[in-house]
Amino acid sequence: MNRRTFIKGAIAMTAATYFSPVIAFGAENLRWWQKKSIYQIYPKSFLDTNGTGTGDLRGVTQKLDYIKSLCVGAIWLTPFYVSPMVDNGYDIANYTEIDPRFGNMADFDELIAESRARDIKIIVDLVFNHTSDQHKWFLESKSSRNNPKSDWYIWRDEKNNWRSIFGGSAWEWCEERQQYYLHTFAKAQPDLNWENPEVRQALYDAANFWLKKGASGFRIDAIVYIKKPNEFLDGKVDSEDGLSSIHNMTAATPGILDYLREFKEKVFAGKDIFTVAEANGVKPDDLSAWVGDNGVFNTLFEFSHVNIMFNNGVEIWHRARLYKLSEWKKTLTESQNATKNSWYPIYFENHDRPRSIDTFFPSGSDKILAAKALATILFTLRGTPFIYQGEELGFGNAKFDSIDDFDDISTRGNYNLARADGLTDKEALRFAQKFSRDNARTPMQWNSTKNAGFTSGKPWLPVHGDFKRCNVEIEERDADSVLNYYRKLSKLRNSSEILLSGEYEELYPENEELYIFKRTFGGKTITVAVNFTTHDVKLPITGGKKILGNYPDEKSYLRATEAVIYEI
Ligand code: NOJ
Repeated sequence: MNRRTFIKGAIAMTAATYFSPVIAFGAENLRWWQKKSIYQIYPKSFLDTNGTGTGDLRGVTQKLDYIKSLCVGAIWLTPFYVSPMVDNGYDIANYTEIDPRFGNMADFDELIAESRARDIKIIVDLVFNHTSDQHKWFLESKSSRNNPKSDWYIWRDEKNNWRSIFGGSAWEWCEERQQYYLHTFAKAQPDLNWENPEVRQALYDAANFWLKKGASGFRIDAIVYIKKPNEFLDGKVDSEDGLSSIHNMTAATPGILDYLREFKEKVFAGKDIFTVAEANGVKPDDLSAWVGDNGVFNTLFEFSHVNIMFNNGVEIWHRARLYKLSEWKKTLTESQNATKNSWYPIYFENHDRPRSIDTFFPSGSDKILAAKALATILFTLRGTPFIYQGEELGFGNAKFDSIDDFDDISTRGNYNLARADGLTDKEALRFAQKFSRDNARTPMQWNSTKNAGFTSGKPWLPVHGDFKRCNVEIEERDADSVLNYYRKLSKLRNSSEILLSGEYEELYPENEELYIFKRTFGGKTITVAVNFTTHDVKLPITGGKKILGNYPDEKSYLRATEAVIYEI
């Protein structure tokens, strides 16, 4: 809640309640992006309306009623701009034009109009750390050392030992300029030089373009990397390839907030829009400068709970470690506590992660129960829930049998790193199968006869429960489906002052089998208990009235993968 809403809320109160923060934090003071969840769409695999084998914007428009049935308030669309698709749209060659694969501007206008008619807002992705190497800015910049855009990117005569996030050196040699350029991600994604005010202005213009077109906010990509250190020193070698992860050298470099404050001033300030920045590496202590009343963004996606299996959050898949449930719960509790005075975007999935039911539950867990159990947490923590397409159907990881089946640069980078570290093809493939983001980029299964309208390409089907189980048509008809459980949860959250506004407190943090937390508002409490094991576990709380859960009946203990919401 920002200061203005707080004061407004407080003035509206009677003298007796004036000093009560409980009332001030009430649902009536929440902004639109706090009151309902957000549905994330990866257009490429959502719905193909013209038989090209690739989903498109019209596909999104066609499914607005389905999305509305999840009671969401907004859709976040991953990039649909002109792109050579080296990184599936995150390599942008024109910030203000739509890639023909996804449609045209008229399709975007129609999507805005149709979503408005359903009270759904559209949030678009801003990818401002880098462009495509096919962007006209880069083509000009690389053409010589003295063209007008020569310092729009980061050029150096010598390279250092930084490893790009997708693997391999973060520097690429350019024959024309006889210099290296820096790329935090793929070599086809050169980093922009934010030191240059013209670059910053051009980016602000692009963001404002989409606001004028009717977008209601932004998901801001990889923003922690925009500021580079003054000196480009070698980092500590962290793998057999002799390189050092660029993340550890450049994430959230001091001075970054000066740029971000300007960004806010020129684009977000004074507008009723929502901003969520991807911010892997912002420390809890620094959070108040990034989000909230005095921060830059409304919320930040942070990674501690999804990257818990990686040391320092650096995704070297074959170094993944086993972690305890208490460690995982602690990451969530820390995030909840750190955002007490601001807001938290709750998520377990997005287009960069494997499917959650295959990630956070022990093997042998029932996948439908697991999908519902995670959903129970998603909708009852404090913050805005983000649902990623297919999550509401209980999609599991895909089953790719060969590294050649992955259409993802980061998967190949991680696989190559594993091979360089001495793993066999089979071993390296196993890690890709477990952690690749392609697991979550398989087509939505819209009906029981066709593969989501995808007429070409590999029929990527979810593994668990097979095609039939994760099928929208079938799920619609089944009262007990994961989809219908999502709808119930969404309705419950949207109408519960306790879930919208209540404070969070974790109970029994040391318990290695159960995640239990409570939400309290106005003297009333909701308690959520989830069993992360595949056996019965004694419940340390009593006296609650069950509101909703993933088993139809109720016991005094929690059964395998059981999740229950109690009024207590
Ligand atoms: C984060 C995006 O979510 C991911 O998909 C992309 O590959 C990188 N940033 C680079 O833009």
